[in-house]
Amino acid sequence: MKRDLRRLLDLSREDIEWIIRTAASLKKERKSGASSKPLEGRSLGMIFQKPSTRTRVSFEVGMVQLGGQAVVLSGDQIQMSRGESVADSARIFSRYLDALAIRTFAQEQVDELAAMADIPVINMLTDKYHPCQVLADLFTIYERKGTLEGARVAYVGDGNNMANSWLNAAGLMGFHLMMATPKGYEPDSQTLASAQDMAKNSGASIELFDDPKQAVAGADVVYTDTWISMGQDEEAKKRLADFKGWQVDQSLVSLAAREAMVMHCLPAHRGEEISAQVLDGPQSVVWDQAENRLHAQKAILILLIRDDAKKIFA
Ligand code: CP
Ligand code: NVA
Repeated sequence: MKRDLRRLLDLSREDIEWIIRTAASLKKERKSGASSKPLEGRSLGMIFQKPSTRTRVSFEVGMVQLGGQAVVLSGDQIQMSRGESVADSARIFSRYLDALAIRTFAQEQVDELAAMADIPVINMLTDKYHPCQVLADLFTIYERKGTLEGARVAYVGDGNNMANSWLNAAGLMGFHLMMATPKGYEPDSQTLASAQDMAKNSGASIELFDDPKQAVAGADVVYTDTWISMGQDEEAKKRLADFKGWQVDQSLVSLAAREAMVMHCLPAHRGEEISAQVLDGPQSVVWDQAENRLHAQKAILILLIRDDAKKIFA
C-alpha cells in the first residue's frame, strides 16, 4: 500500500520517531562525507503553485543526495493550469514518477491528488498544513533536548498552517503546546478538537490563549511565523493592525525558560512578527532549523518511497 504525507496525521508516532532518528543519522553521514544512495534511479516530481526557497532547494538537493532526481514543475506551466483535471494529472504523474510533492492553496487538492495517484503524494505546504516543516522542527528540538517528552512549546501569532501543524504534532507526540493567537486568528477548530482528543491518549496538554505572555511563560521553545501568509497579501494592512503588540521580542522571550530556543519556519519579517534582536540573537536556532529541512525530508522520502525503509534504517 502506498503511503502519503498529506498532513502530519498520516504518520504514526513511531513513524515520526523513525524520521527523527533517520534524519539524525543522515545528517551525521552527510557531515562525515559518506553517502548512501537508497533512492538510486528514483524520481520525485515537485509542483509549486506558490513560491518557495527552503522547501524547493532542500527537497531537490535531498533527492539528488539520495541517488535520485527531482523534476520541478511550476504550477503555471503544467496543463493543470489550463484545466486538465487533478485526477488525470495524478494518473499521468504516476506513470513517470516514484513520488509527487505539491505546494498549493487548498488542502483538498493534495487530498484529491493523493486519492487518485498510485504513488506517494507529499504536502509541501497548503493553506491548512505544512507537515514537512513541523517534522524538521521536531527534529531540531530533539537534537537540542535529546527528547520531545515534557517539552513546552509556545506558538505565538497567526492560527495558520504552522499553528495547525503544531496542533497535530502535540496531539500525536504528547508534548505541551501553549498557543496564543489574537481574537479572530485562531487555528482550525476541527484540527484543534482532534488534537485535544488525541491528547487524552498521548499525554499532550494543549492550551489556547489570547495573550502571548501567558503562552510563553516557562516555555522551552518560542515559535512564531509570518502574520501574512502566501495568498493573504490583500489582507496585509488589516493583519498588520490586528497583530500590533504580538511581536516576539526580547521582553517576551525573557518570560520563557532561561535557555529557551526561538524558532521560526522562515521567511521572517524583522520588525513584524519577530524583532531583529531575537531572530539574530543567541537563542535563535532558525538557521539550524532551516538546514534540518534537508535531513528530515530525506528521511521522509525514504520512508514513503521505499517499502523496506525501516529495514534499511533501523
Ligand atoms: N519554511 C518554508 O517552507 O520555506 P519556503 O517557503 O522558502 O519553502
Ligand atoms: N505560514 C506561511 C509559512 C511559509 C513557509 C505561509 O503559508 O506563507
